[in-house]
Amino acid sequence: MVAATVAGVFARRASWDLRASPLAAALAARRSRGQPVLDLTESNPTRAGIREPGEALARALAEVAADPASLRYEPEPRGDRRAREAIAAVHAAHGAALDPAHVILTAGTSEGYAHLFRLLADPGDRVHLPSPGYGLFEHLAGLEGLEAAAYPLSAGRGARWRVDLDALAASLGPRSRALLAIHPHNPTGSTLDPDDLASFRALARERGLALLSDEVFAESVACGAPFRSLLAGAADGPLHFVLSGASKLLGLPQLKVAWIAVGGPPSARDDALARLEFVADAFLSVSPLLARTLARLLPQRESLTRMLRARLAENRARLAALAATGPVHALPSEAGWAAILRVRTREGDDEALARRLLEQTGVLVQPGSLFELAAEPGTAQLVVSLLPEPERLARGLAALAAFAATLE
Ligand SMILES: Cc1ncc(COP(=O)(O)O)c(C=O)c1O
Repeated sequence: MVAATVAGVFARRASWDLRASPLAAALAARRSRGQPVLDLTESNPTRAGIREPGEALARALAEVAADPASLRYEPEPRGDRRAREAIAAVHAAHGAALDPAHVILTAGTSEGYAHLFRLLADPGDRVHLPSPGYGLFEHLAGLEGLEAAAYPLSAGRGARWRVDLDALAASLGPRSRALLAIHPHNPTGSTLDPDDLASFRALARERGLALLSDEVFAESVACGAPFRSLLAGAADGPLHFVLSGASKLLGLPQLKVAWIAVGGPPSARDDALARLEFVADAFLSVSPLLARTLARLLPQRESLTRMLRARLAENRARLAALAATGPVHALPSEAGWAAILRVRTREGDDEALARRLLEQTGVLVQPGSLFELAAEPGTAQLVVSLLPEPERLARGLAALAAFAATLE
């Protein structure tokens, strides 16, 4: 009876299965018993002892609060001009000339996706997302009534994952509207191969699709290797939207300011911007005070993210030291805040494996299946965050290795 009422009230798009997964239930049970958890999934930098971004944020907020301009409200649908100038400078550092007028601020990258999906697609239309991938984008598409179609990525040699272009082309149909690249990708840490970018551009032009690139992990590239935005050279390609934001770029999820940068052929780009401005104007969701705070922080990002980058480098080095011949080893990765571990086991269900690991050792990891990572027979894949304190990561990995040794 209750189910019938519920089914009658809510939209089909809201028919989510909200039950906790067995792993989430095991975690809640463990916590309710007061048992310790060694959490290797923590991807919130404000909970990982990385203090610099928060300290810089406190200073910038105080400066903005003391500025008499903060007493006035002048709505700007594209967002504060100084913030857009600072964003253009970031993209210039990533190799892409960007006019500040071609930027729209959003309250988080997820909101940027929502704006773009509303701009580009009608309910029932299709957007193409990478698999493996992070489930958030499928949810964001679903919230706009869109169908998310996966295109496969597969691990090539070294750290680079490649797009299965035949599978992508086969999945395109008359309702396909947009093609999304996550560059660098979460959780593989791979950047889009230049040949795959050329194919994306050709496919997008041929099929009338927009290209979206999520570049939130741009500055997490290992060894400080220069990052190149996919927006570079976009004027000759299809309509192109880059999503990025303070959450990952600065390690400041609490600021809740992100942006969309628009490139592509000038007339299509300007038309897209005018329409995006209309969407943004309907919400005016970005506080000008926070936008001006972002404008102060972006030029300091080198010093502000020093600790974050050092943390990522140290944890990557620890993972790289796990021998490929051992029961656990890490896949090479170029960038990002996550790492994929491969464990030798006959246990085919990686969710069950993560649950047993938690129950027996207190170590929490993500099952690879949560990211649609398919394991080869005789192995399971698990995902850990690169943000925990290195000593915690080392303790967790030692417990995981001891656990895995019992599985072979
Ligand atoms: C690739 C990628 N893009 C975007 C987001 C969401 O970013 P935001 O916190 O700015 O909404 C995430 C979250 O983890 C992510 O992994």
